[in-house]
Amino acid sequence: MQTITSLEELRQARQSLPVPLGLVPTMGYLHAGHLSLVRAARRECASVVVSIFVNPTQFGPQEDLDRYPRDLPRDLSLLAAEGVDLVWVPTPQIMYPPGYQTWVTVEQIAAPLEGAMRPGHFRGVATVVAKLFNAVQPQRAYFGQKDAQQALVIRRLVADLNFPIQVVVCPTVREADGLAMSSRNVYLNPEERKAATVLYRALTAAQAAYQAGQRNADHLRQVMEAILKAEPLARPQYVSCARLDDLQEWQGEVSGAALLSLAVFIGQTRLIDNLVVGGEL
Ligand code: PAJ
Repeated sequence: MQTITSLEELRQARQSLPVPLGLVPTMGYLHAGHLSLVRAARRECASVVVSIFVNPTQFGPQEDLDRYPRDLPRDLSLLAAEGVDLVWVPTPQIMYPPGYQTWVTVEQIAAPLEGAMRPGHFRGVATVVAKLFNAVQPQRAYFGQKDAQQALVIRRLVADLNFPIQVVVCPTVREADGLAMSSRNVYLNPEERKAATVLYRALTAAQAAYQAGQRNADHLRQVMEAILKAEPLARPQYVSCARLDDLQEWQGEVSGAALLSLAVFIGQTRLIDNLVVGGEL
């Protein structure tokens, strides 16, 4: 497995990798969710590139950029064990040279939910992912359903900028008690870690109501809200039942695929999770 920082070396190494090439973009501090994307890429592609870059432009000024967890040696040994061909670890200076002023902004699909709560977040994500695509030139790129809106934003970006890349979205990997794996779960103390299961409990309750025939969007949101309310450590930021295609809130009857999604503070830690009903990503 090669580990590369400079763009020149990346372009050189890229030449000798067999196609189709699969790219897995990450911010590191890898867990089983990331590794599931790597495994899907390994199964489906002739070569696999993983990028590790904690992208400063997708963090807001009050967010956790400075304390975002990092452990490059551990990440590299996990990726070597998965048979990854190349890991690209660019520096902020490479991705954002002095005087940087070029941005990729995806509009409507990036506006609600995470986009509304984290202004500028998807501008940072779309810009860095476009740059990763330009540098690595993969045939396929792998993303997790855990960040469902991000996956939809990337799909839109790929279609709109004519990238010849297939976007593959992989299922959310969870802990045994349902908590979606996330690099940010390390911020939770033991009491908060227990409370954090409330996201999945709320989502699965709404999913069960949907499966039992409940189609009223307000009712589905209320099912989630009631469960969140019973958890004293949880402060919900949004509770959504949105159309899967454009992420606009369902009003009245849910008559097509829906993304049930939540953002919840558990103490100081902001967690997100989602489930899709009546369709798939
Ligand atoms: P990061 O949070 O490191 O996640 C990298 C990829 O892993 C994303 O596609 C994310 O959806 C996926 N992922 C995270 N947790 C997962 C889980 N529990 N199950 C399945 N997949 C999971 O997302 C980012 O980095 C960045 O925004 C990035 C796309 C790299 C751009 O900077």
